[in-house]
Amino acid sequence: ALFRALGSEGVRVMMESALTARDRVGVQDFVLLENHTSEAAFIENLRKRFKENLIYTYIGSVLVSVNPYKELEIYTKQHMERYRGVNFYEVSPHIYAVSDNAYRSMRTERRDQCILISGESGAGKTEASKKILQYYAVTCPASEQVQTVKDRLLQSNPVLEAFGNAKTLRNDNSSRFGKYMDIQFDFRGAPVGGHILNYLLEKSRVVHQNHGERNFHIFYQLIEGGEEDLLRRLGLERNTQQYQYLVKGNCPKVSSINDRNDWKAVRKALSVIGFNDDEVEELLNIIASVLHLGNVQFGAEESGNAYITTDTQIKYLARLLGVEGSILKEALTHKKIIAKGEELMSPLNSEQAASARDALSKAVYGRTFTWLVNKINLSLAYKDDLYPLSKNASVIGLLDIYGFEVFQQNSFEQFCINYCNEKLQQLFIELTLKSEQEEYESEGITWEPVQFFNNKIICDLVEEKFKGIISILDEECLRPGDASDLTFLEKLENTVGGHAHFVTHKLADGKTRKVMGREEFRLLHYAGEVNYNVNGFLDKNNDLLFRNLKEVRALGLTVLFCCVNAHHTSSLCCSSILTQCFDREELTDKKRPETTATQFKNSLAKLMEILMSKEPSYIRCIKPNDAKQAGRFDEVLIRHQVKYLGLMENLRVRRAGFAYRRRYEVFLQRYKSLCPDTWPNWKGRLADGVSTLVKHLGYKPEEYKLGRSKIFIRFPKTLFATEDALEVRKHSLATKLQACWRGYSQKSKYLKMRHSAILIQAWWRGILALREAKRRRTAADTIRRFIKGFIYRKQPRCPENEYFLDYVRYSFLMNLWRNLPKTVLDKSWPTPPPALTEASEQLRNLCMQNMVWTYCKRISPERKHQLEQKLVASEIFKDKKDNYPQSVPKLFASTRLNGEEISPKVPNAHEPCHPVFPCISVSSLSDGLFVLHVPCEDNKQKGDVVLQSDHVIETLTKVAICADKINNVNISQGSIKFTVGRGKEGVIDFTPGSELLVTKAKNGHLSVTAPRLNSR
Ligand SMILES: Nc1ncnc2c1ncn2[C@@H]1O[C@H](COP(=O)(O)OP(=O)(O)O)[C@@H](O)[C@H]1O
Ligand SMILES: [Mg+2]
Repeated sequence: ALFRALGSEGVRVMMESALTARDRVGVQDFVLLENHTSEAAFIENLRKRFKENLIYTYIGSVLVSVNPYKELEIYTKQHMERYRGVNFYEVSPHIYAVSDNAYRSMRTERRDQCILISGESGAGKTEASKKILQYYAVTCPASEQVQTVKDRLLQSNPVLEAFGNAKTLRNDNSSRFGKYMDIQFDFRGAPVGGHILNYLLEKSRVVHQNHGERNFHIFYQLIEGGEEDLLRRLGLERNTQQYQYLVKGNCPKVSSINDRNDWKAVRKALSVIGFNDDEVEELLNIIASVLHLGNVQFGAEESGNAYITTDTQIKYLARLLGVEGSILKEALTHKKIIAKGEELMSPLNSEQAASARDALSKAVYGRTFTWLVNKINLSLAYKDDLYPLSKNASVIGLLDIYGFEVFQQNSFEQFCINYCNEKLQQLFIELTLKSEQEEYESEGITWEPVQFFNNKIICDLVEEKFKGIISILDEECLRPGDASDLTFLEKLENTVGGHAHFVTHKLADGKTRKVMGREEFRLLHYAGEVNYNVNGFLDKNNDLLFRNLKEVRALGLTVLFCCVNAHHTSSLCCSSILTQCFDREELTDKKRPETTATQFKNSLAKLMEILMSKEPSYIRCIKPNDAKQAGRFDEVLIRHQVKYLGLMENLRVRRAGFAYRRRYEVFLQRYKSLCPDTWPNWKGRLADGVSTLVKHLGYKPEEYKLGRSKIFIRFPKTLFATEDALEVRKHSLATKLQACWRGYSQKSKYLKMRHSAILIQAWWRGILALREAKRRRTAADTIRRFIKGFIYRKQPRCPENEYFLDYVRYSFLMNLWRNLPKTVLDKSWPTPPPALTEASEQLRNLCMQNMVWTYCKRISPERKHQLEQKLVASEIFKDKKDNYPQSVPKLFASTRLNGEEISPKVPNAHEPCHPVFPCISVSSLSDGLFVLHVPCEDNKQKGDVVLQSDHVIETLTKVAICADKINNVNISQGSIKFTVGRGKEGVIDFTPGSELLVTKAKNGHLSVTAPRLNSR
């Protein structure tokens, strides 16, 4: 499902990145081609990869890029991330790999870098430079300040492209100027500034375009996209066909270009870069002026003098440029001459006037472009006060310069451009091919010489002092007399005619002559032969307008610019840009300015110096077809480019002897896992490590060589075998690593937990110890106070003893509380301390009262009655009768002898007993006999009653209570007398004995023996 979602494109990209030194499709580094000398094999590899949309391939560290002419999904943020910080050779070839490599070299080696992008027009140079810039913008560290710089760096592109790019036959967005851009990085690797150098804008395009080509984009963008208001202010119509400068190529619309959208992008970019609205307006004033200038037409008076037929244009121009119409008119139709030391204005004919007009347009546009670049540079300038720490910034330079160009008609511009490419090629040769040789030398490996074409000979032909083509051209421009383009050609023939790389019609053999015009000379460039038409060389070299300003033949435009200047220094109105562009000093300076070709030569020399001081990376762009078509691989065209880019030579040199080389540490790092001695780490010298490793791998002596710091491997297949082994090894390593990692992570987790536990324990122990210490201290304090208190206990209350005293009281009270008597009978009571003696007594009473009260409250009426009876019994019998103690626990039963049963007659309750006789008599022994004494009057008849009861105490008590005779119970010790009847008396004798025995004694007494139960 994942694969389907990605689409075949995505799958391929994924697979490609998964492969390492090799690709599934061909080889990703040409040095790994088995047949490295075959151009056919080279192109076949390129073709195979191109068909699979693999547009990038290496030759060593040089990146070859084929323009796909379609959007590929290989520039996403994920791709950028994939290439970030990765070893160059570990991932599939990509422009990001080159960018990242340069960036890292800059950071680690602190060496300035440059990336040289070359290739012919339309091969993808500008796109490549944009991709690099985007890569840095996304991947480099950023802060808010840096973001502004990044934005400006990125946004400088659309602006420069609008003003400096145009549609040509070769490329819809062809750069018509050379560009070298420095990106400055601070010590953290963040981009902090930039600087742009521009080279030779193709100014002639402003006034003329070949069929099928356009003027610079900005003109169309302004007319198509400009707001109604703006166009009205500028006096423009929304119709490109209205403007002479825009109709020459007959190509107003290009399908791949949307001028209206581009306009919006440019407007936005301008404000990002820091243009305010006034500056933008002013800039557009100038663009509009150029268009108006193009529409200025001349007629001829009878005298032949030119006059202006289009007054509206003059009106607009006067307003936009801020000069008076009359001055403008005069300037456009006259030239200044100096005759006999006097300045005069001499009229021009209409042809001259038209070329003066075009010269003015070109000059204005060209200078404005330079002004624009300067303005952008100001905005990109690395602001030291903003980044005070980044004093010595490192630099990565990006060179995107016009590629080698061959047209049907080639003029001065192509001459300059191709010369520039010769110089770059020379730099390439010098730096790459030579460095290769030097590397062998420095590594101590024998160099087998490789033949390569050194184009120095052509560079010399063009630039040599006195003898070079440029010198001859300058000479021709300067010399007095009638110099012309043709005299220049003649002079060339005379001077460099014998040069092996130079031919003219006259000098050529018959075959060549057929394809050459008489006004042409041919240079045999490294990239191929080019015929240059000399027409216009002198004028273009002189830069018509300015080089002639101070000459007698000067155009009236001198006057114009003096006016522009004069005007604007006084009143700061619209065209301050022009004032800056056309410096007054320059116009009045007596020194002759340099020719265009010399200026260009010098600026190229400077550029070479800049590039030489940096470490170069190369991107060689190839254009697959002339039709800007995706998927078309035009073999003839490509073979030509491969040849003139010197790619085969480049490869041959790289492969001279050895296909592959790496620094020892890199090689060892990558393959060390393949040998037990080097895995996981090699401790000794790197060279020994590598030597051990390759021996273990079974490399044969002829397959490799060890240099001073690098290993050189002769055949690709040796390397492939090693790669395969690594691929297999990786799996087992991965498993091992995972296991180790798991172990490690678990262990660290465990250690962390353990550590935490120990920490918690320690804390807890600490807390416990603190508590214990506190407890002990308190205990010691208490004991000390106690002892002290004990010593002082006799003293009156004072701080020393108060604790003790309180404690004693407290403990007494607590003890009391715990051991209070439970019953009234319990008489125990703790001994109080002296201070509480009184309180103790009171408490004791209270306690007793409380118990009694509680006890009493609980007693029932029956029980009370019982106790009352018992009390009476006690009063009567206690200590008097022997069987009393036994009767105490026995309850009196209410069923026996309750009050109603006892007749009040016997004995009468109201009649007191005889005072002499008791009413009831009983013995002190344990017997149950008792006598009820009947009162005397009654007694005459019946006598007293002798009774016996088992419950004698109960019976007597109840009877006594009932008869209210409690005090009249007589307890007798020896014998009881009683009345028998009619005055007769009986006696009962009581004697203690062992058992109860009642007998009639001899003396007539009743004798009772009863056991004595209690000894009294
Ligand atoms: N990497 C690329 N991916 C997609 N299209 C590209 C790529 N490189 C170039 N092109 C296409 O080719 C055209 C020309 O590229 P450009 O960089 O302007 O060429 P040069 O600057 O070399 O003249 C671009 O407008 C674009 O359409
Ligand atoms: Mg370009």
